Amino acid sequence: MSANKVAIGKDLLEWYDRHARKLPWRAGPGTSQAGERPDPYRVWLSEIMLQQTTVATVKDYFAKFTDRWPTVEDLAAATEDDILKAWAGLGYYSRARNLKKCADIIVTEFGGAFPADIDQLRGLPGIGDYTAAAIGSIAFDIPAPVVDGNVERVFTRLFAIETPLPKAKSEIKKLVHEVLSVSRPGDFAQACMDLGATICSPKKPACMHCPIRSHCAALEGHDPEHFPVKPPKKDKPARVGAVYVIENGSGEIILEKRQGSGLLANMAQAPTTDWNSRTNGETGVRGAPLTGLQWKACGEIEHIFTHFSLTLTVWKTSIGERKFQPGANQWWASVQKLDEEALPTVMKKAIARALPEAKLKGTQ
Ligand code: ADE
Repeated sequence: MSANKVAIGKDLLEWYDRHARKLPWRAGPGTSQAGERPDPYRVWLSEIMLQQTTVATVKDYFAKFTDRWPTVEDLAAATEDDILKAWAGLGYYSRARNLKKCADIIVTEFGGAFPADIDQLRGLPGIGDYTAAAIGSIAFDIPAPVVDGNVERVFTRLFAIETPLPKAKSEIKKLVHEVLSVSRPGDFAQACMDLGATICSPKKPACMHCPIRSHCAALEGHDPEHFPVKPPKKDKPARVGAVYVIENGSGEIILEKRQGSGLLANMAQAPTTDWNSRTNGETGVRGAPLTGLQWKACGEIEHIFTHFSLTLTVWKTSIGERKFQPGANQWWASVQKLDEEALPTVMKKAIARALPEAKLKGTQ
């Protein structure tokens, strides 16, 4: 390894020892030497939450989960429904379903201890290459390259990698492997994450404060923002549908459990049509679950999912409580207590559009 690569690791860790962010799932930097290790359960939970979600958003959810389920055994004893309810608003709900599956396996097959092995970690539900490497290095100090978006940015700048993402991933992984500190892989991974989150930002990076600026090829070329090079953006396909908010005179609306195994499976929703990729998909009252009622048009809401953007037309009706018998899969839910339901953000937005006076959290 070139002296340069050794120096990058050393400079980065010295900076991390002074500037590491204090995050609730971390033990302090350098704990491998001090003998204190972070709790693998907390590392795993945080890494699953941090997939696709910012540190600022995750903090509150992490506190809520660890207060309620302090150990993996506690989480395994919870129902999927309870976990989905506590997860509501974080998005990407397959993560919550896999959380339950993974907790069950850790308890039944691993005696409650996460395995200190990258391949075994990767075999668990919800744990892919990145998460296995992150848990392995942070919880167990296994020298595996941890490459998330922050690390991609830091390394494409450091080595001025012109290959666009995602093609550059294998090149980046190889370089991270060469640079990472074998004695402190967990701290090295988190130092890269912190540098990417605080100094090596996507726009206007604070290069003057960067502990590894003397090694940075992008800074030498005077254009760090040029990296990482991205392929041209494809437009997301558009889908449309309608949502029907049915209220009674007692401050309740009809919710139902979303069926199937696809997007938002087992989450709660107001009755809705299919979300159709044809722009002439059903968005009117013909798709409503009840006929012969007066529907009020409440406008449209938009929500962007990973693979498509969705426009939902929102309809509302009021009916006497006894006129509508909820189906097996449906229930009357108190509008005041919608925070206790497993409602994804898209549904909160739709219900907030129909009932603006309800002031639902997370819909602004
Ligand atoms: N993003 C993903 N994992 C993280 C961690 N352990 N610390 C900070 N940001 C992260």
